[in-house]
Amino acid sequence: MLEMRQVYKSYYENSEKNFFKRLFRNDKQKKDVIKGIDIQIPKGKIVGLLGINGAGKTTTIRMLSTLLTPSDGEILMDGININNDEKVTKKRINVISGGERNLYWRLTGRENLEYFGSLYGIDKKGLSNKIDECLRLVKLEDSSDIPVEKYSKGMKQRLQIAKGLINNPDYILLDEPTLGLDIIIAKELRHYILKLAKELNKGILLTTHYLKEIEELCDYIYLLDNGKILKEGSPYEIVKSVSPEKLVKVEFGKKDKKDVENVVNKLEIPVKCVWNNDESFTLKSGKNIIQEFISACSNYNSISIESISIVEPSLEDSLMEIWHDKY
Ligand SMILES: Nc1ncnc2c1ncn2[C@@H]1O[C@H](COP(=O)(O)OP(=O)(O)OP(=O)(O)O)[C@@H](O)[C@H]1O
Ligand SMILES: [Mg+2]
Repeated sequence: MLEMRQVYKSYYENSEKNFFKRLFRNDKQKKDVIKGIDIQIPKGKIVGLLGINGAGKTTTIRMLSTLLTPSDGEILMDGININNDEKVTKKRINVISGGERNLYWRLTGRENLEYFGSLYGIDKKGLSNKIDECLRLVKLEDSSDIPVEKYSKGMKQRLQIAKGLINNPDYILLDEPTLGLDIIIAKELRHYILKLAKELNKGILLTTHYLKEIEELCDYIYLLDNGKILKEGSPYEIVKSVSPEKLVKVEFGKKDKKDVENVVNKLEIPVKCVWNNDESFTLKSGKNIIQEFISACSNYNSISIESISIVEPSLEDSLMEIWHDKY
């Protein structure tokens, strides 16, 4: 397991805009970015890290990959502090980030992988086999001898994925890995992330702004808010904790809005209703009110119901509710 225990991170920023003045720590302003977080990434599980821009996700990933050292607290990999022997722990952790940075554009895809692979001290033959395997996986085998500057955005992202797998890491940290990928490649990548966890027993941390990705993949999620964990649990638990009510979606054939609202107000069980558009609305209630709603509507000639069903609130609905309450 890769875990953070009460980890803090502060940055020191120049408080003065005088670039020529030599600044000491006392002259700089302390900015607390991560404020005591506990995160666990077990092997074989996909853990999501969610939060709005600036919440601290990338900082967390940089600490987990030893690129940054925590200001306080400890990060343990299978019980060993990762900052005590970075050479050993680095071999077992890798990062895949979204975007086009951290690649050498003048080098070919294969040369990039040769370079990054050599940093892990893999022997030549083993590395050559691993490179072929990774290139095949991201479908770059036919473009492996072209300089990266001639790659499309999606090809660069696929190379990032190959680079992140080159050392066969036990723990993989994914920072918006599907950024800029077309839907077909993004779907294949999601499929592969599942395989890495479920078949190859890798521990995976995933940050992404695509909530469908989180819902589809994650066993557990942490909601990071301003450097603290605001909520944690399985996607189902998070949704239930925010929206314990049952949602009933009603689509009308014909309706008079006033009469519909009359029906809602006269229901015995209190409900909240939200119009989705002119033809449909959603009722929120602590109980299943389908029967009662249908029979109340039957008293009105002006109302006919086209369809009525219970819908599960999505993670996106729940998060929107959480962020909406906070911001
Ligand atoms: N090198 C740095 N020096 C000072 N402040 C920094 C530095 N890097 C990040 N920060 C600040 O730390 C906070 C968290 O940044 P971070 O990049 O971890 O957020 P994030 O959750 O990854 O956001 P995004 O969704 O935009 O990628 C932000 O307020 C950011 O301005
Ligand atoms: Mg980020």
